[in-house]
Amino acid sequence: MATGPMTPVRYHPLDEATLADPYPVLAALREQTPVAWHETMQSWLTSRYHDCLRVLRDHERFARDPRRLGLKVPDAHLSVQVLDPPQQAGVRSLFMSALHAQDLDTLQHSVGHLVRERLEQSGAHPVEAMSQLAQPVALAATTGLLGVTPPPLAEWAATSDTIMRSMDAGLDPELVEPGRHARTQLSDLVASWFTTTGRPTGLLGHVRTRAAAAGPEQAAYMRHTARVMFQGGYSTLTAALGNLLHALAHHPELRSVLRENRHLVRTAVDELVRYDGPVQGTTRLATGDVTIRGVRVRRGQKVTVLFAAANRDPDAFADPDRIVVDRTPNQHLGYGWGTHACLGTVMAQRVLAVLVDALLDTQVWPCPAGPAIRLRTATMRTFARLPLSLHSRP
Ligand code: HEM
Repeated sequence: MATGPMTPVRYHPLDEATLADPYPVLAALREQTPVAWHETMQSWLTSRYHDCLRVLRDHERFARDPRRLGLKVPDAHLSVQVLDPPQQAGVRSLFMSALHAQDLDTLQHSVGHLVRERLEQSGAHPVEAMSQLAQPVALAATTGLLGVTPPPLAEWAATSDTIMRSMDAGLDPELVEPGRHARTQLSDLVASWFTTTGRPTGLLGHVRTRAAAAGPEQAAYMRHTARVMFQGGYSTLTAALGNLLHALAHHPELRSVLRENRHLVRTAVDELVRYDGPVQGTTRLATGDVTIRGVRVRRGQKVTVLFAAANRDPDAFADPDRIVVDRTPNQHLGYGWGTHACLGTVMAQRVLAVLVDALLDTQVWPCPAGPAIRLRTATMRTFARLPLSLHSRP
């Protein structure tokens, strides 16, 4: 049995080749060192599906909340994303019931309208699909869900990008300070949503009414969770829309398959999140000494669960490197699993399906129109630039 950090693995998430295509190195990791110590990240990496699932399911042994290991967490960071059960339960169930109370059909309809408008506007010219399609659609979807006025897109996209990049501060400490500044801007925006006097609407309206009646600690968790819903939801959805468009552009054969089998759009968008999802991994902390696949992980050590590797594990998915639009079941980890699983899954699935439906309805299919440039981020897999032409193709 290995008892501590072993030979470092050659996995550099920010290398150009890995950014372009992380799946070969993730496959090597999965096959050769499924539980590997990463010196720079100061973390164990798990890359096999069943090991990842085990870590995500076992919140007793694998903490999200660093305070369980005696570490300090700034109060402003305490949201559904950081709290663990039982403390997490109240705020998570409040947001889940707030989500269930929303009229997602109407929201889906208005997002569909925006997508069609954008597709029609693009005409014969190539578009930069992140700024012209993915970002505006994600902003409309997340602010529509929350029931708030969208901030100006360009300004907001820059703030959100800075926060997203700061998730990689473990690999690049220079990202910490800009991230802190951008988080303050986000906190101010969200705080203003809680103090506004207008009639509360949307998910935030639901939460705001409860926050007013809750004690100060719970009310703070609610505000911080609203922040995660907005920024996390926006940035992940933007990335997912870009990755989906890129996959469609590189797999033109999917067009006729989906045209002839429209009922497969829902399973297809789920498969595309498995195939090239936006969230590459997440971290937990071992609450005691624990063994994963024969490797001893010490109390307090970090464990990074590599969703992207797990989602291509041949032990869990037949033909994992192929897009199988009717893959069923498809219990991938692209939306996480367990007590911290994505709260926006249903909403995200609907928005992704709206985009594919609109492409099929308007007979437009994306086609590469220049080099796509990945953003240099490890946790989130997304594009800085995604030039596409969106011609009509009868
Ligand atoms: C395709 C788009 C999306 C994907 C692939 C995605 C993926 C994920 C993943 C993998 C996690 C779990 C992270 C972990 O275990 O540490 C997560 C958590 C979360 N997501 Fe999403 N997400 C998406 C869109 C959204 C949207 C649109 C919203 C909100 C409107 C949202 C809200 C959240 C929240 C609040 C959490 C934290 C849940 C918790 O810790 O209890 N997500 N998401």
